[in-house]
Amino acid sequence: MREVTATILENKKIADEVYSLTFATEEEIPVRAGQFCMIGVSGHALRRPIAVCKAESERITVCYRLKGEGTRKLASDYKPGEKLSVLLPLGNGFTLSDGQKKIALVGGGVGIFPLISAIREFSQNKELYAYMGFRNRAAVCMESELQRTSRFVVATDDGSAGYHGTAVQAFLDEFDTVKPDAVLACGPTPMLRALKEATKDKNIPVYVSLEERMGCGIGACLVCVCGKKDGSRARVCKDGPVFEASEVEL
Ligand SMILES: Cc1cc2nc3c(=O)[nH]c(=O)nc-3n(C[C@H](O)[C@H](O)[C@H](O)COP(=O)(O)OP(=O)(O)OC[C@H]3O[C@@H](n4cnc5c(N)ncnc54)[C@H](O)[C@@H]3O)c2cc1C
Ligand code: FES
Repeated sequence: MREVTATILENKKIADEVYSLTFATEEEIPVRAGQFCMIGVSGHALRRPIAVCKAESERITVCYRLKGEGTRKLASDYKPGEKLSVLLPLGNGFTLSDGQKKIALVGGGVGIFPLISAIREFSQNKELYAYMGFRNRAAVCMESELQRTSRFVVATDDGSAGYHGTAVQAFLDEFDTVKPDAVLACGPTPMLRALKEATKDKNIPVYVSLEERMGCGIGACLVCVCGKKDGSRARVCKDGPVFEASEVEL
């Protein structure tokens, strides 16, 4: 993990309430799919955790949805050329074995962003099937990245684009045809809970990336702990954010 002062290259709106922020670090920092960074926003003591979407040598891109004060300030006040304080890379990221060839990616809301990094890392040697859920047509983004997969399904809550329903429903509709070896998922907890329940008898590993409030992002403050099936507690920032769904309480 490094603390860097990065230079902002771009910070632009890419969909309704969604921004793409690209910054340059002074030297290349290796980042694995599913890892995240903590971005400092002036006037806020706590950094904001955001998944890394793309890491191309010194250029790192994250995408964020406007939520509260921190993300709104990031969108309005941080311009190209300005400095940004970032901790990265953080967390464990997604790991797949050689035998896991056909991979389903199931994402909802801001959960699509860590899955973009999985597409970038795994598209060379895995067959990827992406099921991505958005609120509506105006929220759909990152299509050129998602189209790097063998199959890409957009699902919208209101049916204004693609499949009318959730990403989990879209995935389950095609499960028997695709027969994936593993699933990588990220999204709101109710979505991950529904996915865990629906796949519990399917005998495939489901790796979920969890979203918890964070203080430090480096395993020191215990703000982000989640419960594990064996009764122990895990820190989402340090032991996760990726866990096998069967191991954690959702
Ligand atoms: C590992 C991880 C990766 C994430 N990746 C992304 C991403 O790629 N794109 C994206 O848009 N969002 C992502 N999030 C969610 C993002 O961190 C929150 O939306 C953001 O922190 C909200 O900050 P705010 O100041 O705008 O909102 P406020 O609600 O004002 O924030 C108040 C406090 O709560 C925390 N907080 C609020 N909502 C969340 C949340 N959902 N998850 C974690 N902390 C939260 C904030 O960090 C801050 O400390 C991720 C969260 C985690 C844990
Ligand atoms: S955020 Fe501090 S331990 Fe996870």
